[in-house]
Amino acid sequence: MSPKRSGPTPKVDPKTWVPVTIRDVAKVAHVSTGTVSNVLNRPDIVAESTRQRVLDAVESTGFIRNTQAYQLRGGRSHTVGVVVLDVSNPFFTEMFRGAESRLQSEGYVLMLGSTDDSIEREANFVRAMEEHRVEGVLITPVAADLVSLSGLKTRGVPTVLLDRKATADEFCSVTVDDVRGGELAARHLFETGHAEVVFVNGPTTIRQCRDRRQGVRKAVRAVAKAKKVEVTELSVGALTVRNGEEAVDRILAMSPRPTAVMCANDLLALGVLRGLAAHGVRVPDDLAVVGYDDLIFGSMLSPALTSVRQPALELGVAAAELLLDEVRNPDHRHREVRFEPELMVRASSFKSS
Ligand code: RIB
Repeated sequence: MSPKRSGPTPKVDPKTWVPVTIRDVAKVAHVSTGTVSNVLNRPDIVAESTRQRVLDAVESTGFIRNTQAYQLRGGRSHTVGVVVLDVSNPFFTEMFRGAESRLQSEGYVLMLGSTDDSIEREANFVRAMEEHRVEGVLITPVAADLVSLSGLKTRGVPTVLLDRKATADEFCSVTVDDVRGGELAARHLFETGHAEVVFVNGPTTIRQCRDRRQGVRKAVRAVAKAKKVEVTELSVGALTVRNGEEAVDRILAMSPRPTAVMCANDLLALGVLRGLAAHGVRVPDDLAVVGYDDLIFGSMLSPALTSVRQPALELGVAAAELLLDEVRNPDHRHREVRFEPELMVRASSFKSS
């Protein structure tokens, strides 16, 4: 329980500052150090008047608990580590918000890190989180083989995979059926009359990109008997707005010119829309555009972006629930919570007659 601080934090000179100790607080509050410790760790067993007197002393002395020392004495850190692929992508920050809202209600704080699809960055974050004695980890792993998570498993740190399926029952996971999502987007374009489609996809080292491509190919096979459709995959180095914008020159140079662009995520789609606007290409009249994630800005664009919705907030909440169960339930069994994608059709790919 931390006191509500009122007024500005006292200015201290780093050269002369001496940390305020629990003994200083006890002296000011006229109680034992054990009572101060109880107020900080088990406030429910301390009388209200005593508890308030101690909290007032904590505030007036500027006492701040030394978490490391507390943990070394076997205390809990009340911290959960969250590692995602790209914190600049609103999909991941929305998923983080879902997990944070659920875990904060249980007294946890969250540490957030972004791997940018780097194995080395992931390993550094996992190590730093273990050093902070996090009580659990939510992670979108970079590598397919999950080897980097073996240390967490060995040390019994509850771990839930975010937006990633686990093999067998080694971890809990929350996922979205990206194969289905890719199929929904491609079928929508075929069913609205597009036969020449370009699919702007990220690196296939990213599982989500591989699955979305698999869904596109499944949709091509499904319509092959009824109509001839051609999907050309255009690969970019990362799923960013800039890469989407830079892909437009390559799209406009294609022959025959595609009539529709499907993007592996909404950041790419936003970049494609920017590039098309700069070239005076009309959407959807000259070129239909479909994204993936259904980020909040998509519905606010003009034309509003058609996109495959992933329930990012719900994914984060579900991951937090799985983690809390693993931390608290001795009979916990790992499981996958799977969500279905939903196609949100809007003006960037569909003109109502
Ligand atoms: O990080 C790549 C993509 O995978 C994100 O845009 C989101 O779609 C996630 O599922």
